[in-house]
Amino acid sequence: MKRLLVLASGRGSNFRALLEATRHGVLRAEIVGLGVSKRDCGAIGVAESAQLPILREPSEAEILTFVKEKKVDGIVLAGYMKILTKVFIDTLRDEKGLSQIINIHPSLLPAFPGLDAYTQAFHAGVRETGVTVHLVEPEVDSGPILDQKSFRIDRMTSPEEVESRGLPVEHELYAKTIDWFLNGEYQLLTRGTGEKRFYVSRSP
Ligand code: GRF
Repeated sequence: MKRLLVLASGRGSNFRALLEATRHGVLRAEIVGLGVSKRDCGAIGVAESAQLPILREPSEAEILTFVKEKKVDGIVLAGYMKILTKVFIDTLRDEKGLSQIINIHPSLLPAFPGLDAYTQAFHAGVRETGVTVHLVEPEVDSGPILDQKSFRIDRMTSPEEVESRGLPVEHELYAKTIDWFLNGEYQLLTRGTGEKRFYVSRSP
């Protein structure tokens, strides 16, 4: 079983959903700890109930020590509000050079990168938005896209409504995608040119 460290900064709904997915076998992995960049965030309570070790406001060096000691295979960002350095990201790559750090972003990247993506989509007047699970590269909200799921928002009347539609989509897509990626059920394909020519596709 792959061993995961989750990093979060917020209410922790994705973290909670991932823990449940490991219990139900949807995510064939073990979550071995939580790192938080804020002293009081909802994710902490979730980790406490699950009796998981918590790294509070850890430096990257402290995270790497934990990764080595606990034999962590992958890091999952679940609303982590701290930007990771290139040096840190480069220490967590597999033999093919693929980043072993995964993130979820609440838009159909490359649309609406950055903060408050559901709100951005609402105010942009798009008919649909969605969520993206991608590998983390030093450029924020970039990195190979593993999967995306869209949903209609054209009849919605507030950013909050967009978010409450999006969160369950995030929870389901994140667990499933981490599962196939970490368990090696993908093909590495080439398409186009330049830095973005490699992409990761789930095995048929
Ligand atoms: C989610 O919308 C996630 O996509 C984004 O930050 C939010 C975290 O929410 N990166 P939660 O703490 O998992 O509830």
